[in-house]
Amino acid sequence: MLVLAFPDYLQQAQRLALALGCQLQPVYLHQFPDGESLVRLPTNLPEHVIICRSLNQPNDKLIELLLCVKTARQQGVKRLTLVAPYLCYMRQDIANRPGEAVSQVIVGQMLAELFDDVISVDPHLHRISTLSQAIPIENAVSLSATNEICLFLQQQFDDAVLLGPDSESEQWVAAIAEKIGFDYSVAKKVRQGDTLVSMSLAEFDFHSKPVVIIDDMASTGRTLAKATKLLFAAGAQQVSAIITHPLFCGDAEAHIMQAGVQKIWSTDSISHTSACIYLDKLLAQAIRKIL
Ligand code: R5P
Repeated sequence: MLVLAFPDYLQQAQRLALALGCQLQPVYLHQFPDGESLVRLPTNLPEHVIICRSLNQPNDKLIELLLCVKTARQQGVKRLTLVAPYLCYMRQDIANRPGEAVSQVIVGQMLAELFDDVISVDPHLHRISTLSQAIPIENAVSLSATNEICLFLQQQFDDAVLLGPDSESEQWVAAIAEKIGFDYSVAKKVRQGDTLVSMSLAEFDFHSKPVVIIDDMASTGRTLAKATKLLFAAGAQQVSAIITHPLFCGDAEAHIMQAGVQKIWSTDSISHTSACIYLDKLLAQAIRKIL
């Protein structure tokens, strides 16, 4: 078994290889001036290869995956496992208007055709409950980072109030709060556009303890920024956030900081300065289970 590492995901792949006790080899990538990618794999690949790379910035990465998988198969690789803590294109699960592509189904099918196993962490599944409904293979494994987040929270706080900024986050915030005995509240959010959200907090005492916003991802940062502003308006003294997938697109971070959030922590699902909750052991355990 071998872990293949892309340059932008080297540290996470190294940690995974170490946790699995297996070899790691780099994938060489070159971007041509017109945006095309050149992918070069090591030769003499073993029968089982793990590709470890989150699929943020997905349009380039999906093509590179395709090139990688086809080349590995030509070399005789029998089993290909994708470890993508962040999975792209999972949010659009219905056609909101006639003619719209349902990307979850299309990209899910593509990954199912390319890989024998797909392992991800807290994928954004809204209307379906299992990852194999989106990626129709037996080993489509959806893990949760809640245990890692619980451990981290307990290291940082004796007690805190957790806030889920929308109904979709309730699954994570409730599970975490229950495990470590913290109180939690869930806000109501309506998204009016890519960078426009409206939100209201439930009646709750946010004064007396530090508040930690828990969400699966931060993209434009508008959700975090709005929640932070409302919390301060409701009397919170200290507001921080834990994010599983720190996408932080464009001016997201500046926007969140402006809102006054004191600290943002995230998992290493995506490389980012806030990434301090490592997922390697969780991922390695899941790989061992499916071997
Ligand atoms: C939405 O359902 C997700 O859980 C996140 O709250 C959302 O994707 C965050 O997006 P943004 O950072 O753009 O507000």
